[in-house]
Amino acid sequence: LGLLPGFGGYVRGIEKMGALSALDLILSGRSVSPKEGLKLGLIDQVCNKENLESFASKVILNRQRIKKIKWYLKILNLKIFRKLIYLNIKKRISKKVNRNHYPAPYAILDLWNSHGIAKPKSYEASAIQFCNLYKTNSSRGLIRVFQLSDKLKSLGKKNSDIKTAHVIGGGTMGSDIASWCAFKGIQTSIQDKAISFLEAGLSRAEKLFRKRIKNEEDFKKASNRLSVDLDGKNIGSSKIIIEAITEDLETKRGLFKKLESKSSSNTILATNTSSIKIEDIADTIDNPERIVGIHFFNPVHSLPLVEVVEGKKTSKETIDKAISFVTQIGKLPLPCKSSPGFVVNRILAPYMNQALLCYMDGFSPETIDQAAKNFGMPTGPIELADRVGLDIALHVVKVFGGQPPDILKTKVLAGHLGAKTGMGFYKFKNNRPEKSSSFDKPDSLLTDRLMYSLINEAMSCFDDGVVDDIDLIDAAVIFGTGFAPFTGGPLNYAKQIGLKSVLDKLKSLEQSFGTSFKASSGWSNLS
Ligand code: NAI
Repeated sequence: LGLLPGFGGYVRGIEKMGALSALDLILSGRSVSPKEGLKLGLIDQVCNKENLESFASKVILNRQRIKKIKWYLKILNLKIFRKLIYLNIKKRISKKVNRNHYPAPYAILDLWNSHGIAKPKSYEASAIQFCNLYKTNSSRGLIRVFQLSDKLKSLGKKNSDIKTAHVIGGGTMGSDIASWCAFKGIQTSIQDKAISFLEAGLSRAEKLFRKRIKNEEDFKKASNRLSVDLDGKNIGSSKIIIEAITEDLETKRGLFKKLESKSSSNTILATNTSSIKIEDIADTIDNPERIVGIHFFNPVHSLPLVEVVEGKKTSKETIDKAISFVTQIGKLPLPCKSSPGFVVNRILAPYMNQALLCYMDGFSPETIDQAAKNFGMPTGPIELADRVGLDIALHVVKVFGGQPPDILKTKVLAGHLGAKTGMGFYKFKNNRPEKSSSFDKPDSLLTDRLMYSLINEAMSCFDDGVVDDIDLIDAAVIFGTGFAPFTGGPLNYAKQIGLKSVLDKLKSLEQSFGTSFKASSGWSNLS
């Protein structure tokens, strides 16, 4: 949230756990289980939920003594130790966190270095610092991100209790969607043309379960929830069917025709298509109101957003069920209309395209990526293109009916598709791009070229009615692309700097770089 624990919690946290553990929790924002909290000394006792009242009254009536911190942890608050720890942690933080974007970690460290936990000074200083942080744009943006996440979670109106799912197509996406559903407690089967297509996905599933489930028994249960069903025997009994086969309209149409007759009439029929309109797939079946887009992002296991795409004929009931399902599996649903690129890919496309144009203007990949990082993006657009795959990037440009930059066609023709072939704009070693450290530092104009392409498209997307609520655009871009969270999203950022500044900037970019920067007619929506 860009804050420090308020109401004296910051001081008491250090007092109870010692500076090292407390600063680790406070600076990372990590949560701990009751068991870990007890071990750390953050809490004194743990009891079962059922005994809570009797346990609490016993503690109070018997005036049980609270645990004291060990002496060797206590002395770390002495000035001489504080300084050493402070310098060490600060050095590590400065490698990861830009102070201009995220001031809170630095403020917390400075606070401790100046006052330790001496009372009442440390309480007073932490209260003042809390207020200072609360007033920053960074904290406001981060609080907004928290609220947006709550907003998306609350969209699932009914509690979904889907127990069976069937996924068709076990490639990159399908197998990861299936393993995620199984991980989240759903009995899931997966279908492909032959077992050989599923082998890579099943081994990724095992990795997911091993990484996320520590208990052997639970690991086995999750593994047993995922099964292979090459003949589609489970189609009739599954409550949701997710199609993730090759991106080809006729093949998808043929499949849904079969699914419609074989599945139960109240089963959700979902497609994971990223570029085909839902109504184009649904038009040839008898009950098009049953088909909805449930569009996951790659990698499924780590990206929280899932677009729930409404086709022209999708029923309200199907949409509601799909939104609730997405919430059930712990993802953030983003309801949107079926239009090219839906929300996230549409907004990313001009930004990535602009990055390629900058490359063709002579900027190095490192300079371009750094320009985006200076704004606060987690990964630069050139590295992102390499990671997505340049063949997919080329396909996306075509979906939007645009003219792909020549460099993209050249790279794809040469078989340089990015991380997956070890070579794209960067050379990849162990799945990491080899970046030169001596590159020209980007100026703010380069950052503007990239970021205003994205910000302007975000507004166009809202203006075209792809989502109903302007907040959903910011939520989509933050949770779908990792867009600089401290800004609170592209449209919140535009609001912060003011409509006039945005329009002036777009005008000047349009004069220098052409009509792709023509201001969206939707900017008047920014109140
Ligand atoms: P992929 O090529 O990795 O996997 C497709 C799988 O479907 C293959 O294993 C293929 O054997 C199987 N398949 C094809 N026809 C089939 C049929 N009739 N019955 C059963 N299995 C069949 O493709 P990928 O990347 O997983 O994409 C799948 C879908 O997900 C596409 O619609 C794509 O647009 C969409 N998508 C892809 C993303 C990505 O980053 N790769 C991201 C989001 C959506």
